[in-house]
Amino acid sequence: MAREFTSVGVVGLGTMGAGIVEVFARNGVDVVAVEISEDALQRGRAILTGSTDRAVAKGKLAEADRDALLSRVRFAVGLDALHSVDLVVEAVPEHLDLKQRIFAELDRVCKPEAILATNTSSLSVTEISVATTRPNQVIGIHFFNPAPVMKLVEVVRTVVTSADVVADVEALCKRLGKVDVTISDRAGFIANALLFGYLNHAVGMFESHYATREDIDAAMKLGCGLPMGPLALMDLIGLDTAYEILDTMYRRGGRDRRHAPVPLIKQMVTAGLLGRKSGRGFYTYERPGSPVVVPDERTPVVTEAALGDGTGAIYAAGGAGSELASPAVVTKIGIVGSGTMATGIIEVFAKAGYEVVSVTRGAEKSAKVFEAVKTSLNKGVVRGKLSETDRDAALGRINWSATLEHLADVDLVVEAVVEELSVKKALFASLDEICKPGVVLATTTSSLPVIDVAMATQRPADVVGLHFFNPAPLMPLVEVVETIRTSAETTATARAVCAALGKTGVVCGDRSGFIVNALLFPYLNDAVKMLEASYSTADDIDHAMKLGCGYPMGPFELLDVVGLDVALAIQRELYLELREPGFAPAPLLEHLVTAGYLGRKSGRGFRDHTRR
Ligand SMILES: NC(=O)c1ccc[n+]([C@@H]2O[C@H](COP(=O)([O-])OP(=O)(O)OC[C@H]3O[C@@H](n4cnc5c(N)ncnc54)[C@H](O)[C@@H]3O)[C@@H](O)[C@H]2O)c1
Repeated sequence: MAREFTSVGVVGLGTMGAGIVEVFARNGVDVVAVEISEDALQRGRAILTGSTDRAVAKGKLAEADRDALLSRVRFAVGLDALHSVDLVVEAVPEHLDLKQRIFAELDRVCKPEAILATNTSSLSVTEISVATTRPNQVIGIHFFNPAPVMKLVEVVRTVVTSADVVADVEALCKRLGKVDVTISDRAGFIANALLFGYLNHAVGMFESHYATREDIDAAMKLGCGLPMGPLALMDLIGLDTAYEILDTMYRRGGRDRRHAPVPLIKQMVTAGLLGRKSGRGFYTYERPGSPVVVPDERTPVVTEAALGDGTGAIYAAGGAGSELASPAVVTKIGIVGSGTMATGIIEVFAKAGYEVVSVTRGAEKSAKVFEAVKTSLNKGVVRGKLSETDRDAALGRINWSATLEHLADVDLVVEAVVEELSVKKALFASLDEICKPGVVLATTTSSLPVIDVAMATQRPADVVGLHFFNPAPLMPLVEVVETIRTSAETTATARAVCAALGKTGVVCGDRSGFIVNALLFPYLNDAVKMLEASYSTADDIDHAMKLGCGYPMGPFELLDVVGLDVALAIQRELYLELREPGFAPAPLLEHLVTAGYLGRKSGRGFRDHTRR
């Protein structure tokens, strides 16, 4: 007979505990909510009422249901109130000694058959369990933040957890409307093991002034479709909690340097900048606990100089110094290349009202690009997003050429030829001879150092990277890559052009992977390593990232779309440039590529696509 959970206890009503109380009470379970002091209890109660009031205001919860929900919760100070509950979920700060003390106490207070669960993110459930006389009834129930919203629960079974306890907890998760994945006791479980290296890396980028907080967050939201950027997520998690998780993962997870907390995190914790809960972390919030970001001294200012290029577009400057520089007026664009990216970029500029000169290697290629642009614009017409007149006007703005000399009077050149340094360098040397002075020369390279291309010209200050994402007409992000020689004016112009295209330009330094790929691919590679270690299945790992972190696709789904060969090539570049041992490509990824399992394009990658 499965256990009936009619009443549960929650210990610690902070960021997670208050949300966990809400999850239980919403699903008809009586909750005893416990804190360490009256003050803390009031804070916890305020988080719960704040969250349920917001749900009512948004029309997601009826007033009567909210009242019923709140009536199921009894608040108490001290663990003694938990003597008759069937299950306890502990959600106190991430310190092993504190959790062990609480479990020893719970073991004394709770009835013998009660299950004792921890919401720890990174500590060993096994080590917590041995503080009790019933380690077989101790389990991890790892909810995700915010608990009422995120669907995933990681159920962590230790080597001594009884099978019936696991089964009963899995059934409870279903009753709570959650999707559970059951795994063994390893630092960070699935989601955090894949998430925290990425978060720490993003903080490192911020700490080293590689990019601004706004640009790092915008890059990951717009480039990968994530629900929030890494720094905003650090603020949501809480920097003190994030620090403890990283520290534990570093110590338990083989001392991977990528988990050694970036020094800035500790400094911010010491300074009381804990994120949303204290009202300030990487961003500043309206008040402690509020999700509303308010401007502070780091907020980019929109200055006169940052106005667009005459098209009326305004953008928020953010690159080092670029907010002080004036963008040049750009009306005529040269685009070199005839591949997927060049074709998309031609469409983007023509649609935005620029006069475009497309240079390809011959009339045949130009005809092909013309057809592709026309087909794509026609799709817009069919979907009612573009009028026939606008389509014709856009096509009419494109001049087709096979001679670089036709770029003599353009204001900006975007190079999108094959990803080979020698070819790009030769092209930039030619552009240097042909183009008028002061023109911005941009490369769309996704993996080569922009400075190498810049130094092929006599005007490296005018060279910048403009990394568009595929498909260019749809993706809202462009990485604006500054080399150590790029002038502030060039960056300002590049950024203003992005804004005029209706895209967000994020400014970053000239390092392998820029922002998005440098943060994304190591995470994908880590997922492959996790699969290779047989810790979990591809399906469960994909589930964990989608349902626990709100990612639009799981890592294996994404790898199959991107192409395993592409992922391997990018990962190799990152490894070569940064020499970070943790970036070494997963052997399984190498083997799959060698075997020709490249993802959707070859019919098989991590999954077989021929039978779907
Ligand atoms: N923050 C997240 O995003 C997140 C997500 C999943 C899991 N977790 C895990 O959940 C746990 C709690 O993290 P959090 O972010 O909610 O922390 P938090 O600091 O926001 O809240 C902890 C709460 O525990 C209370 N507390 C401390 N000692 C206590 C005691 N002896 N008895 C009762 N209450 C006590 C504190 O007063 C505080 O309200 C940690 O193990 C963390 O790793 C956190």
